Order: sequence, then structure tokens, then C-alpha cells
Amino acid sequence: MSDRPRLLPLLGATRHGGRDAMTCLYRCGNACDHPVPNTSDNTYFGDLVSTEVTRRGVVRAGAVGALVLGFGGAAAGALAGAAPAAAAPGTPVVPEAAGFGRPGRGVGSGALTFTPIPPNKLDTLVVPNGYDHSVVIRWGDPVLPGAPEFDPHEQTAARQARQFGYNNDFVGVLPLDKQGRRALLVVNHEYTNEDLMFPGFTSQDALTVEQLRVAMAAHGMSVVELERVGGTGQWRPVGKGRLPYNRRVTALSTKFELTGPAAGSAWLRTAADPKGRTVIGTLNNCAGGVTPWGTVLSGEENFNQYFVGGDGAPAELKPKLARYGITTDARYPSGSRKWERADERFDLAKHPNEAHRFGWIVEIDPFDPESRPRKHTALGRFKHEGANVIIAKSGHAVAYMGDDERFDYLYKFVSDKKFMPGNSWVARKHNLTLLESGTLYVAELHQTSAGEIDGSGKLPSDGAFNGRGRWIKLVSGNRSYVDGMTAADVLTFTRLAGDKVGATKMDRPEDVEPSQLTGKVYVALTNNTARGVGSNPKADEANPRTANKHGHVLELVEDRGDNSAETFVWSVPIVAGDPADPSTYFAGYDKTRVSPISCPDNVAFDATGNLWISTDGNALGSNDGLFATAVEGPERGHLKQFLTVPLGAEACGPFITGDNRSVFVAVQHPGEITGASLEKPASTWPDGDFAKPGVVVTWRLDGGPVGS
Ligand code: FEO
Ligand code: CA
Ligand code: CA
Repeated sequence: MSDRPRLLPLLGATRHGGRDAMTCLYRCGNACDHPVPNTSDNTYFGDLVSTEVTRRGVVRAGAVGALVLGFGGAAAGALAGAAPAAAAPGTPVVPEAAGFGRPGRGVGSGALTFTPIPPNKLDTLVVPNGYDHSVVIRWGDPVLPGAPEFDPHEQTAARQARQFGYNNDFVGVLPLDKQGRRALLVVNHEYTNEDLMFPGFTSQDALTVEQLRVAMAAHGMSVVELERVGGTGQWRPVGKGRLPYNRRVTALSTKFELTGPAAGSAWLRTAADPKGRTVIGTLNNCAGGVTPWGTVLSGEENFNQYFVGGDGAPAELKPKLARYGITTDARYPSGSRKWERADERFDLAKHPNEAHRFGWIVEIDPFDPESRPRKHTALGRFKHEGANVIIAKSGHAVAYMGDDERFDYLYKFVSDKKFMPGNSWVARKHNLTLLESGTLYVAELHQTSAGEIDGSGKLPSDGAFNGRGRWIKLVSGNRSYVDGMTAADVLTFTRLAGDKVGATKMDRPEDVEPSQLTGKVYVALTNNTARGVGSNPKADEANPRTANKHGHVLELVEDRGDNSAETFVWSVPIVAGDPADPSTYFAGYDKTRVSPISCPDNVAFDATGNLWISTDGNALGSNDGLFATAVEGPERGHLKQFLTVPLGAEACGPFITGDNRSVFVAVQHPGEITGASLEKPASTWPDGDFAKPGVVVTWRLDGGPVGS
């Protein structure tokens, strides 16, 4: 018998926020049904501090002048840095791709003049008038040359490992030429939904070992070479030729190298890898980022759900496993995928350290298909949503990161070495080492109006949810700053280090992304329905609503405009929900002109610095979607809905190309509604037969810049 609650009634199956029960099951192993993993009672120093800060913080325009905003937007220096790959014989050489789509060169005024689309429950992708969209690639489409045609009835792991994986999340688009005709699409495949993937699915136990291996092959990442369609903003996969860059990374067989201070430590050694330096596969890759040196970062998020046998793990390890959401009092957590039937390393009773080899930030060099992807231990281990890099004024690479769990923390990493600009082989080789050593910090947020926060969302009398904050140093290279923990301990059990130093418990920090134009950092805090409920921490100024259903967005401005600073100011420009709800806030903008938004998840910037926000689990009842707002000037807070995704789906990975001509979105888990199956789909997007996750590109029909 299955232990998976497949037969919950269709109606009433919506749970935490607006998420369907089926998404809770497959996406994060019913995380919300488990106790909050953070049971620490770390002292909240912030209440004691009262500091005057300006509501909009410090503007730092022009501070990142060293960076060139290019095709990739956030990819910035990727244009200059997309150098010939350091590589083995036969590795393709990456053409230089600079000089395309810089601000002021045809990217538009930045005014968001599109007419917002209304909330809806349509089983289709909806875009504003004057725009069109197409599916770039979908689950099962060929990635590697010669991949067999997709047939879910004939699927094998070998086939899936050559085809586009399931449940695309992060999307990055990196240019391959100066003219903007070719590009590399890099995509995460976060998780699988066996109910919707396998014909005649009855239970996880009934799946064959080969089907479990299909699921492993459907996880991971894809690299796909794209070509522009005519002179438009539309893109499609290159269909012919050798396709030297096309690549699949899977949970099944791709080898990863561990780097940084924890690599080789006792925590990471296993029977299969006694040196603790090589891991097979990557798991639950959620969001990510394109680096200024032209690689892609990917966050390993809800890795805990792939492991069984936590009850049989050594007693001294159990608290560490539990802090990461791993069940330690039963062999099978609810909704277990039972991958140990295909590969016993997923059984913690036999291989207790295997779980420590996931939960890292992964870096992949899409320009070098022979390169081995790496897991960077210097960036810490938690449920990484993603990581986004900006080059500080000092030249150091700074990565901002969120730990997506209720009451977990916000982090940043500052590299030891400085970014080397330019397009040389030497620069590229150097920049590929930037994330291997540095300093890891966790955030502590102080309040200015602590006594006025009552959980209702009512704005304090000083007119803002805001305060100062500091980055608490956890580890620098091999030196730990946390009592009783070595550097390897801190990096492998980073959550426990954050507990010890009194980091601020946040409402599920998801995407954290700096604007390459201003250096200001934006944090999507999706929701936290446990905030202030029972014995859980109550609302505070940075997480101002009890039972926070709709989430909020936090803006962080580093002191002196220096992204490597150890102090900052923060404010909450967006408190999400229906604008008619008095607890919502849109930077003081006229709420009658704002689109309703719920559960902000992934954030991105266009070439003119507008903030784009996609949602996960809309608790207002409409389909999830993508929104945009200015973050500077009089239009700050004028949030407008740009698109909605089909029934049951989540809008992921928004990516706006640096020429502002194309908006990419990943449609994740379409039709993921309890009771649905491959044969009885709840969505038939995109082809009219059964639901397939896929990447979509949207463009303006008249060829103009998107948004304006
Ligand atoms: Fe995979 Fe935090 O969303
Ligand atoms: Ca305040
Ligand atoms: Ca996400």
C-alpha cells in the first residue's frame, strides 16, 4: 500500500498558502506537516536596538560602474567574461559576446507601460495585449543529439537522461555571440511528480527500480543551445548540428567535485567516497543565478525528502539531521520517495553521511560541457533556494542566499579573491575559483518600531517596517567564529551555526538578488503561516504579520554602498496580498492601481532595473504569475501583473534578457492538483494532451523592449 495521500478530495486539497496538497507532498516532502526544524531559542537582540534610518535607505547609483550590463542582465560581466573555456582538447571555444544590449542602447526607458492582466484560473499562459509567447522546451524534448522521441509509456532512465527533465525551476540565458543570435539556456529540474509522470501510477512502492531511476534522471539541470527567431524576442532550441554545449546533469550519474574548507572533511566521507570529495548527483535544484564570470549557480533545496532510515542513523548525528528536516524517529518520512530501492546510499541507516553531501550551492560552467560541476562548501549548507552574485566596489564577489524554511536565515558570502575583469583565459580560470574560499555571514535584523508590531501588518508610526542590521561572521576560510564548531562543522551544519549566533528568524527566505544597477538587495519572503502561532516566534518588524499567508519583499542596502560591508539598513517595500487588505503595503503607492500578489518567490531584474517577481502558491485563489514594479522613483511600488501560468502551475525562474526583448519563465508543475494523473490530467498545458512542465519565452509583438 502506498503511504502517499493520493486520494484526498479534489476540493479542499489546498493547503499551506495556496499550494495544492500534491505540491506539498512532492515539492518538499510535506515540510509544513513536520515540526519547524528551527527549535533554537537564539536571543533576538534586534528588539534592543533602535536606530534612525531613512525609509528608502541609501541610493548607490553608479556604484557598480565596473560592471557591464549585458545580454544576460544579471550576467553582467559574463559578456566580457564569456571567454574561451579553460579546457581539455576538443572543448568548444566560447565566442566573445560583449557590446549587446547595454542600458541606453535600445533597452527602453524602463517605464512599465503594459496593461496588467487580471487574476484568473485559466488553463493557459496569459500575457498582456501586445505580447506573444511560445514554449521554448518542455519535459521530454530532446536535449542531447539523437535523444529518442518522448513517450511516457516507453520511458527509460537512459532516454530521460538525454531529454529535458521534469519541473523546470531556475532559468538562465547566456549569450553565445555578439549579435544576440545564439544563447545557452540553463535550467534547473527541481523535483518529480510520479503521479503525473508514470502511466497507471498507483504508489511509490509499486514503481519499478527502473522507474525510480527515470525519476533520478528527470532531476538535475539542462543546458540547451538556443537561436533567436528572426529579429524578434522569440527563441527556440537549435535543432540541428553537433550541439556541443547541450548537456544533461542528473541525480543519477553526474559526478560533482566538492570544493572549499569542508571538502574532504569527515562529515562528507562515505563508503563510496572515502576521501569526501566527489558526489554523484544533485537534488532539488530550485533557484540560482548567473555569475558575472558566465557560470550558473544552482541551489540544492529540499534534499531531506530523498533520504530514509534516519531512525537508524547514529544517535549523535540525529539532532544534526533533524535540524535539516530529516525524519529521525521513523524509517520512512511521510511521502518518502524510497530511492534507496534503486541506490542504497539514500538509506541513512547504512550511509549516514550521504545526506551531508547535498544542500550546497552548485556551480556549472555551461561553456565547457566537459567540465565537472562543483559543490562549493564555502557557501554553507542549508536548504539553498539559490545564490546571486554581485561584484563589490572592492572587487570581491558577494553571493546573497536564502534558506527556504520557516524561521530560517538569510546569508551572504564574500570571496577572498577579487574578480578579474576581461575576456582572457587567465581571467576566466581565476574567476572560476572565486567561490572556493571566502567569508560566510548570517543576517541579524534590528528593529526601529518593535513596540508597535502587533502582527496585523499595521504600519508603525515612523512610516516603515525598517531597521539596521549586521552580517554576523560565521567562518572565514578555515577559521570558525562560532564557539565549539570547526570551520567544517559550520559549513556542513550552517543552520546550527546560525542558531548559536542569534541570527534573525525569517518567513522563508527564497530568492535573494542584488540589483546590478544600484547594489540594493531584494529578498522574497514567501510566507509563514506558523509565524506567531502557538509557541512559534511572534511577528517582528522584518516579518510583521501573524500567520503570514501572502509573504513580503525586503530591501537591503549595504552601508557605504559596499556589498562586502558588515552592516546595512533594511526595509519592507512590499507586504503582499490583495491591495484591498489593509495589511498590505506597496511602498506607499496608490493601492487601487496595484495588482494583487501572493507568495513572492523568485525575483529578477530587467536591464533598466525594474524588479520582476514570480509567485508560488497564490493564496488569493488565482493562478500563479509574474509581476513587475519599479524600485526607484515615483513608480516605486506600482506593481503590475505581467503574466499568469496555467492551472496548478507555479511561475519560476523569471529571466529578462539584457536587451530587454525577451522574458523567460519556467512553468513548473502544471496540473499538480490532488487526484490528477497522466491519464486524467488537471491541466493539458502546453500541448492539449497531458501536463508537461516547460520553459516559455514572452516578447513584444512590435519588437520593442518588454515592459515599456
Ligand atoms: Fe523550491 Fe523555495 O522553492
Ligand atoms: Ca520602523
Ligand atoms: Ca522557489
